[in-house]
Amino acid sequence: MQSFDIIVIGGGPGGYVAAIRAAQLGFNTACIDGYIRDDKYSLGGTCLNVGCIPSKVLLQSSENYAELTHSFAEHGISCDNPQIDIAKMIARKDDIVNKNASGISFLFKKNKVTELHGWASFKTAENGKYVISIDDNGSAQEVSATHVIVATGSNSRHLPQMPTDNVNILDNEGALNLTQTPKELCVIGAGVIGLEMGSVWKRVGANVTILEVADKFLSTADEEVAKELHKNLVKSGLIIKNSVKIGEIVNGDNQVTINYEHNGESHKLVADKLLVSIGRVPNTVGLNAEAVGLKLDDRGFIVVDADCKTNLPNLWAIGDVVRGPMLAHKASEEGIIVAERIAGQHPHFDFNTVPWVIYTNPELAWVGKTEQQLQAEGIKYKKGKASFMANGRALGLGNNTGFVKMLACEETDRILGVHMVGPFVSELISEAVVAMEFMASSEDLARIIHAHPSLSEVTHEAALACDKRQLHG
Ligand code: FAD
Ligand code: NAI
Repeated sequence: MQSFDIIVIGGGPGGYVAAIRAAQLGFNTACIDGYIRDDKYSLGGTCLNVGCIPSKVLLQSSENYAELTHSFAEHGISCDNPQIDIAKMIARKDDIVNKNASGISFLFKKNKVTELHGWASFKTAENGKYVISIDDNGSAQEVSATHVIVATGSNSRHLPQMPTDNVNILDNEGALNLTQTPKELCVIGAGVIGLEMGSVWKRVGANVTILEVADKFLSTADEEVAKELHKNLVKSGLIIKNSVKIGEIVNGDNQVTINYEHNGESHKLVADKLLVSIGRVPNTVGLNAEAVGLKLDDRGFIVVDADCKTNLPNLWAIGDVVRGPMLAHKASEEGIIVAERIAGQHPHFDFNTVPWVIYTNPELAWVGKTEQQLQAEGIKYKKGKASFMANGRALGLGNNTGFVKMLACEETDRILGVHMVGPFVSELISEAVVAMEFMASSEDLARIIHAHPSLSEVTHEAALACDKRQLHG
């Protein structure tokens, strides 16, 4: 039986990053992953195969098409009868995913991580070693390790009344692989996937209706940025209905009928495709956690403490399979931290500085506390808000909607939260993350020189506005 210092189960952004960092620290490390795409094992997990990367590739392609058809004319650029080839758009996305997946194998070789393929489950824990079985398409092998890091990720949650089939009723995998634009797309769940994938298919010609159970739009985001995003998405043609109760769903030959209640009335929507994006569930089924006594909570998440330690010695869990936001960068950071803790180091992880980004148009991004959280916690704050409206770079881009809002402690001026909606805020948010990690005050950012002309000048103005000395507002 092959034996390792560390075995990582799962090759997503949590697992593969943990494995590389562990190997860099001198541990004999293996990573086991069972994800199969196009009949081949493919590293990278949900994020690379059917999540972050392919969705952002399609968001970019569809945005290019939307700009060509709607906004290039104002730049004086015209083109007769623009067309989009959906098959080519999907093939380009697949090509990027394939290149990145083989890139991870390359990194494993470079860092001397042993790559093992198949489905892993716990067998025993004996003599200070965990024994793990790997089922590789029916052929089994066993491996053992002193430390195990579980990074098995998550899968889409199904509606209780109707499972997804990825023919008419889609989850993220199906929504990323449509071969033609649906005429009518219904989306259940106005969360991150619903808004991003709804935007992709709307931009390339689908009628998109998003049905959401909650009465508030994007309730985890700051109310003011959520409201601005909602306004712009509705303007772009997305139909978004909150406070909806989904009833019977009928999966027909080439269409799906969705019955729902809204504002006390019954409605029926006939769509050619239905995307179900109502959250994700942890991947712990099949892991045989009970064989070693690994503790799960009642929703199937592995129970861990702040350091990602489970209830068992030398057994760790990270990423989507444990508490906290289901984000790739959170998973990766936990992976690094666990590898370093095994090596005896003392890294820290601050949930308050994990950035969130939604890649719609305009984009939405935030870090730290929302105004509503500060109010609920009774923390006194000052607020600086600056708009992209007159920013020269945003005007040049032809995308000048939205604003940056900075929240700083009234007493100490320390930045407590930054909320952005506008062009490329996915990039701008990093400045706020760095500032918060360094415990900066709004005055610190106000006194830092920002390049002109740049979108980051809006962050600068928001910092100045905290002290009521905004120059361009
Ligand atoms: P995963 O990426 O899920 O990887 C787990 C891996 O383990 C998988 O390959 C799985 O097959 C494998 N596995 C599971 N069980 C076993 C087993 N028993 N044996 C062997 N292998 C096993 N996050 C962002 O931060 N930014 C984004 O823009 C973003 N966009 C997203 C878009 C979509 C459509 C989706 C669905 C998700 C998106 N996410 C995004 C979330 C992100 O993908 C996840 O947070 C991230 O992938 C979690 O990483 P992980 O390593 O914990 O798990
Ligand atoms: P989500 O949690 O973001 O949103 C799910 C939505 O569905 C919620 O608004 C919820 O109220 C609603 N809902 C739940 N049950 C419902 C029902 N029966 N009827 C109608 N609405 C219902 O989950 P989503 O969009 O599936 O994404 C999963 C996770 O993946 C996200 O939470 C995020 O962590 C990650 N992700 C991150 C992205 C990013 O960082 N840009 C992009 C896409 C996904």
